[in-house]
Order: sequence, then C-alpha cells, then structure tokens
Amino acid sequence: MLLSVLLLLLLLVSSSQGSHFLGSMMTYYPKETNADGSVSVILRYKVNFDSCSYNDQWVCGGNCGNETQTLSLTKVEEVTGEWCQSEGIITRLLPNNAGFKTVLAGGGWIDNIQNGVVSWRAVTDVELRNRSDIGKPNTSPQTTILPALR
Ligand SMILES: *[C@@H]1O[C@H](CO)[C@@H](O)[C@H](O)[C@H]1NC(C)=O
Ligand SMILES: *[C@@H]1O[C@H](CO)[C@@H](O)[C@H](O)[C@H]1NC(C)=O
Repeated sequence: MLLSVLLLLLLLVSSSQGSHFLGSMMTYYPKETNADGSVSVILRYKVNFDSCSYNDQWVCGGNCGNETQTLSLTKVEEVTGEWCQSEGIITRLLPNNAGFKTVLAGGGWIDNIQNGVVSWRAVTDVELRNRSDIGKPNTSPQTTILPALR
C-alpha cells in the first residue's frame, strides 16, 4: 500500500533573521487521468506569516509537468501585525502518474521551543499511483487545520 506524505517539516539550523513564518499545509488530489496517461492534479495550500507582506512560492522538483493554473485565493489578516493566512490552488498537468515533490522553504520561523531553529522547509510528496487497497489513485489526507506550527 502506498502511503501519503502530507507534509514534512525538516528543521535546519541557520543564521537568524526577522521571524515571520508560522506554518503551512498542503493537500492534493488527482483531477483526471487522460487517455494519453497524463494526469492533472490539484494542490491546495495554506501558509501563515505574521504579516500579509510575505509571499509564498512552491518550487516543484521531478516529474512536474506544467503548471496550468495558479490561483491566490485569499489573504486573511487574522490579527493585524501578528497573523496573515494565504490560501491558494495550483493545478499541474503531469506527463504520467509518477509523482513529484513540491517545496516551500524559507527562514524566519517564529520563535518557538526549538531555540535557534529558524529555517524551515514544507515538503509535499505527491504520490498519485493507484493504491493497491482501493485500486484508485492516491490522494493526500484532507484537512482544514490551521497551519500555526510551533
Ligand atoms: C508542457 O508544455 C510543453 C510546452 O508547451 C509541452 O510540450 C508538453 O507536452 C507539456 N506537458 C504536458 C504533460 O502536457
Ligand atoms: C488505476 O485505476 C483506474 C481506475 O480507478 C484504472 O482505470 C487504471 O487502469 C488503473 N491504472 C493502473 C496502472 O492500474
């Protein structure tokens, strides 16, 4: 059985900068498989910073195909100067269902219990092959949890 990896945060130690990153999450599901074997996949994400002035850029690696649509859905300033949540949807057309990784990375993780850890990487391992148990393409776990990670 194939397992979905929703999100893996790797902690790296590096030099400090102004802390502004709170957390991120991503889910994915295949939209359709075409007759030629190409697959379109929908990736939905949320990113939280302490202000709406920061940007998010997911970088794809591997069997990435083409980005066919990117929508920045909302930016919600939950608490002025403390918490801004962005949401977006990325659609990719992949040549096949071999899967890929997409990474959002940066520095400035908010002060937390891991003293001195400021660099962060949110990695989504997109696995779209058919699951042996249900005989259908894999999807990530679906969640709407707010991404404030400490
Ligand atoms: C991605 O775009 C290129 C250039 O337009 C095209 O040749 C290629 O077939 C596309 N890939 C997929 C998976 O559609
Ligand atoms: C994957 O499952 C779909 C049905 O959900 C089926 O049409 C397709 O042939 C399967 N692909 C493989 C490689 O088994």
